[in-house]
Amino acid sequence: MAPVATAPPAPSFAPPAGDTHPLKSQAGSRVPPPPGAEVSSLANILTSGQYDTDVSLITPYEQLPTKIEGPTVWTREEYEKPENQERWIRRWSEEEIGQLETAAKDWVASGRPHEEIERATINLPLSLQSTLLSLRQKILHGSGFYVFKGFPVDRWPIEVTAAAYLMVGAYLGNSVSQNGRGHILGHVKDIEGDKFTGDNIDKIRIYRTSARQHFHVDSSGGLIGLCCLARSLEGGESDVVSSHALWNHLQAHRPDVARTLAEPNWYFDRKGEVSTSKEGQNPWMKRSIATLVKGQPDNRLTVQIDPYYLWSTTRFVEAGQIPPLSAAQKEAMQVLEETAQKLALHMILEVGDCQFVSDSSVLHARTAYKDHPPPHPRRHLLRLWLSTPVSEGGWVTPFPDADHPRRGGIQVDEQPHRCPLDAE
Ligand SMILES: [Fe+2]
Repeated sequence: MAPVATAPPAPSFAPPAGDTHPLKSQAGSRVPPPPGAEVSSLANILTSGQYDTDVSLITPYEQLPTKIEGPTVWTREEYEKPENQERWIRRWSEEEIGQLETAAKDWVASGRPHEEIERATINLPLSLQSTLLSLRQKILHGSGFYVFKGFPVDRWPIEVTAAAYLMVGAYLGNSVSQNGRGHILGHVKDIEGDKFTGDNIDKIRIYRTSARQHFHVDSSGGLIGLCCLARSLEGGESDVVSSHALWNHLQAHRPDVARTLAEPNWYFDRKGEVSTSKEGQNPWMKRSIATLVKGQPDNRLTVQIDPYYLWSTTRFVEAGQIPPLSAAQKEAMQVLEETAQKLALHMILEVGDCQFVSDSSVLHARTAYKDHPPPHPRRHLLRLWLSTPVSEGGWVTPFPDADHPRRGGIQVDEQPHRCPLDAE
């Protein structure tokens, strides 16, 4: 099946639960780590990537670019053209698959845990290393996404697929935890089923459901990898949009919305994934959505949102701890989503496709889906969050861990990293 498909009808865009309540009082802000604090171990980087925006570091709206240019700005029309597909789709060669298979099987045979797979512990052939490092450049500084086809996930046992995929990821970035359980190998699969009612979005991560995911970014600190092991019966299709094309469109047509997105007064839920061993952390983050760190070039502006994390803060609003979303913010969310839908490239991931997406320059979405009835396997994607600190080409962020090798992610307390081979 061709990877490009006609976009499905636009879904409704609204929080699945009730509305918010007026502000009763303001809570104090999070206590930042001391300047120069060591961030070299899991214990010290707790919940890295879940900091408030440091407002002293960000560019005020009036000085943000009205139009961004360069390779990060692209259009659906451009990428849909068959002659341009080689710019974002590539099939693994037989030689590359053979090299990955050898390395992954050797790793499994050695008995070493998958959690120890990283650049320093593996040794892929130089040609493959160089392919992966140039892919990283392309994703971080170019279009922001790429699809590798032909990972033989049906032929390999899951432990070999997992090892090979982690090895690919190791050359793109550094694995970080994707949840409070320390998963560095994630499983995007509907395991919540009927437990997800739409009223409990503060307790359930959407990747564990079959619900639509509106345009959003993850908390990878760099790149996200999604590798398709099994498809759904219907739906579950992917969209990606250039954040900079989106920003340019908003600045041209709705500068009021662009301004609202740049204000650092958006409260994102942390869904309870908060360390208890450190005091002073709020169960939410106060951030800007459109952000450019002072002194950075225009093409380092980020647009980072996840509507579910904004909608699910109702309990804090009701407790008077944070203000509700304002009318302007709700409208800005709506306009952002509609604009992204208009500009996005739509694709269907086939079994064996590995999609890589930058959290800095691309927003991604997926349609709601329905699984095959048992015993057919449910839709299943393996997920990686691959941190790319500034020293490895990552974009500068307004957070204190910008140059930590494992910036981003959801590291709760000292939860060790884990690579479960199925969703749990
Ligand atoms: Fe995502």
